[in-house]
Amino acid sequence: MADTPKAQFKPRVFSGIQPSGGLTLGNYLGAIKRFVDMQDSGIETIYCVVDMHAITTWQDPEALRRQTRELAAGYLAAGLDPAKSILFNQSQVSAHAELGWVFNCVARMGWMNRMTQWKDKTAGKNAEAESLGLFAYPSLMAADILLYHATHVPVGEDQKQHLELTRDIAAKFNHDYGVDFFPLTEPVIEGAATRVMSLRDGSRKMSKSDPSDQSRINMSDDADTIARKIRRARTDSEPLPSEARGLEHRPEARNLVNIYAALADRPVDRVLAEFGGRPFSEFKPQLADLAVARLAPISAEMARLMDNEDEIDRILSRGAARAREITAPVLRATYDIIGMVGPKRI
Ligand code: TRP
Repeated sequence: MADTPKAQFKPRVFSGIQPSGGLTLGNYLGAIKRFVDMQDSGIETIYCVVDMHAITTWQDPEALRRQTRELAAGYLAAGLDPAKSILFNQSQVSAHAELGWVFNCVARMGWMNRMTQWKDKTAGKNAEAESLGLFAYPSLMAADILLYHATHVPVGEDQKQHLELTRDIAAKFNHDYGVDFFPLTEPVIEGAATRVMSLRDGSRKMSKSDPSDQSRINMSDDADTIARKIRRARTDSEPLPSEARGLEHRPEARNLVNIYAALADRPVDRVLAEFGGRPFSEFKPQLADLAVARLAPISAEMARLMDNEDEIDRILSRGAARAREITAPVLRATYDIIGMVGPKRI
């Protein structure tokens, strides 16, 4: 082993979030709320709006700017405290792109070819016409994580393979250069996120791309709209069961109960203990009240922030400055290891 100082890292939560725009209740319960809840865990929390990943497929520049700010506004409105968490957009911290390039030279074509997300995204399409960036997407993601030695990476199941690849890249880097620099930490994949399903079809994910606006609750919906969508949500005609097992073949019922439990921060069993045996005509108004109570203040604050872009931009810039303080020494040490001549005082 070469005599390289081991990077000094401390436990950290890091996650990258795509600025895909049009935030729904699914984004809120599946990611935003969980991430915000983690900022009080005592571990440093870093959330990166991955605009560099976003451009692996075509993005209209105006839309990308809006979506980046909207996502940041969603987090802030949901309670992300910039004094506790670092929130920034990836392109403001050039170390991500730089380490991503180094990792492009570490990762092998064969590894990337085996990524199921790449295979899924190109299935039935002409892979030859996809961007090189889309293919290399996972090595930029590895750079995101390893720049911070994130020990907790809350992501969904679908990102597990990318996290394994991150370990492979760290291991090959260490091996090729004879160092023990990048940690092979086993990132913690957080337990199953609440999967919020369409209000019109309990077997499909709630999605901003569903043609029916009735199928989803948008984080920008006002109180009346939220309440109306819940009242009209599809259900079956049975009363609610008193145990979770009774939801097994009732996807619409299960979805509404899951949403209630997540919004109320209560286990499903406790929700059913309360509502078991009661009809949807009694459950839905309670769910609507709860959803409005939780979401209306968030959507109002999002709207306020979106009218104050400067405020959002300042928070992102400050977050980026803090991120650069963490990443600059890690990138410099990486460059030293691989033989890049560094800056000298002139
Ligand atoms: N690929 C992740 C997703 O689609 C987003 C992401 C980019 C990410 N970089 C990351 C997640 C680093 C966790 C850590 O959800």
